[in-house]
Amino acid sequence: MSKLVSKPVCLADFEVHFLQSLDRIARDYFTSGANQEQTARDNVEAFKRYRLRPRMLKDVSNVNMKTTIMGNEIDFPIGIAPTAVQKMAHPEGEVATARAASSMNTCMIASTWGTTSIEEVAQANGSGLRWFQLYVFRNKQITMNLIQRAEQAGYKALVVTVDQPVVGKRLTDDRNKYSIPSHLKLVNVNTDGLRSVHNPLDTQQSTESVVHQYTHSLMDSKLTWDTITWVKSFTKLPVIVKGVLTGEDAKLAVQLGVDGIIVSNHGGRQLDGVLATIDVLGEVVEAVEGRVEIYVDGGVRQGTDVLKALALGAKAVFIGRPVLWGLAYQGQTGVEEVLRIVKEEFKLAMALSGCAKLSDIQPSLLAYDRKYYCKL
Ligand code: FNR
Ligand code: LAC
Repeated sequence: MSKLVSKPVCLADFEVHFLQSLDRIARDYFTSGANQEQTARDNVEAFKRYRLRPRMLKDVSNVNMKTTIMGNEIDFPIGIAPTAVQKMAHPEGEVATARAASSMNTCMIASTWGTTSIEEVAQANGSGLRWFQLYVFRNKQITMNLIQRAEQAGYKALVVTVDQPVVGKRLTDDRNKYSIPSHLKLVNVNTDGLRSVHNPLDTQQSTESVVHQYTHSLMDSKLTWDTITWVKSFTKLPVIVKGVLTGEDAKLAVQLGVDGIIVSNHGGRQLDGVLATIDVLGEVVEAVEGRVEIYVDGGVRQGTDVLKALALGAKAVFIGRPVLWGLAYQGQTGVEEVLRIVKEEFKLAMALSGCAKLSDIQPSLLAYDRKYYCKL
């Protein structure tokens, strides 16, 4: 339960509670960015460099936030990004998140590295919209098995994360020798057999965090764009690539027939020093020329951030850490509260900028404030 005196009224309030209540190792794992965390910070800061040019007298008595992503309707364009090990934030972990996503009628992306199985997440999510985030494994059989399970469990798209051929360096995790608590398990992949070759959970003797160990022992750093072609040939589900940061890669992805792109830098946890995602979004939207849907994650913390991302051409945004803050606060209710607050903030931002429907949100809504732009 909350140590806050009053009920949270914005996402930052949940963060305060989270920082006060979680144990240090879990808190550090969830919070950290790579290296000096320049990109992790900039993801949030960059939104502030875009200012708004609202229009007046536009009849905003009826603001409609409903949209579709990959052909499925959601009540508002804010979904849940995939994050690993959610039971470290709350005992109900991914089940609580899946229920919250469903009750709020938005999309949840479930992580390969969940502490709840693909099938249990699906059951908790019920008739809700869920996508499965896929890491590609060195052992093709593991990857194929994950895809088939996601298909059978009613996930409506595969989100292939392409920005983690190797894991970024997270200093706090290395210092903490981060390991998953012994009562939790990354249940989607049977690591038991693999442990005889390499025990990824045995961090006692190692300076590598558990995320590094898993990735280095199981994942395929030889991935190329051919892998996307292979995934596409293996599944009938729409394939979305997550982690594109240039117009060049966005064009390649479209040429290969991907169905969507998530502009993402993994919450600043991979290559430190890359641009904030909101600063990349315009380049990707321009390169893609409307051929596929584009989404963005990274640093979305309030309703006006959503407005700005949509003005730059995103179909929807996804939030990562704030969901973990809500989860740590009150499980399912906490995640619902986080979603409700950012949804209501977005609605207010639409109304105050003269947008009654999503198609009213245009690039002309934005001014780029050079005062805040520090040329490196
Ligand atoms: C992540 N992210 C992530 N991405 C992914 O594709 N698979 C995963 O398992 C994870 N796990 C994960 C754990 C934690 C603790 C964090 C913070 C992030 C990245 C995530 O999907 C998303 O890109 C960012 O979190 C978005 O940034 P914000 O909203 O956290 O600022
Ligand atoms: C992370 C991995 C699990 O960012 O994606 O920690």
